[in-house]
Amino acid sequence: MPQQVVTNQQIVIVGFMGTGKTTVAHELGRKLNCLVVDLDELITRRESRSPSEIIEQDGETEFRRLEAQLLGEVLEEERARIIAVGGGAWTIAANRQLIAGRGACAVWLDADFELCWKRIEAGREVRPLARSRELAQQLYGERRPVYELADVRVTVSENDSAAEIATKVANEILRRQ
Ligand code: S3P
Repeated sequence: MPQQVVTNQQIVIVGFMGTGKTTVAHELGRKLNCLVVDLDELITRRESRSPSEIIEQDGETEFRRLEAQLLGEVLEEERARIIAVGGGAWTIAANRQLIAGRGACAVWLDADFELCWKRIEAGREVRPLARSRELAQQLYGERRPVYELADVRVTVSENDSAAEIATKVANEILRRQ
């Protein structure tokens, strides 16, 4: 039974690579019975290239430009209730302002570095910004204080299923209303 949706507030799922943003967003969408948009999937459809391909071919700056543009479009789309963004989107001040300007709620999926790295390594996805453990760990350390600016923090542990994390997110959001 979907939980009762009591607000039209948009929910933006942020966090480092490997925290499970996309999977949790879809679980949450099922739970709250609302539309989910994955920004990286949208970028891939629009550009016919994945974020990593765009970063490798055109550079990170161009990827960030596209990301910011599409984030703005998605936030304008009222039906898009849950938005999963790539790990770097929230670290850009202009994106955080866009999200706050729409009155959306930013939810940080907080997993420790070891778990993120384990999933990054195990995944088939190419992640140009996490090519080695050292680079990924440095980025993780730099970004952590920025993720802390999110409205809601939900801790992610290795044994939590996506459904359990989505329940925690839903409870946090409902509690804030
Ligand atoms: C990025 C994370 C990726 C993707 C791009 C950049 C980042 O998304 O947006 O490769 O800067 O952390 P995931 O967090 O879904 O891996």
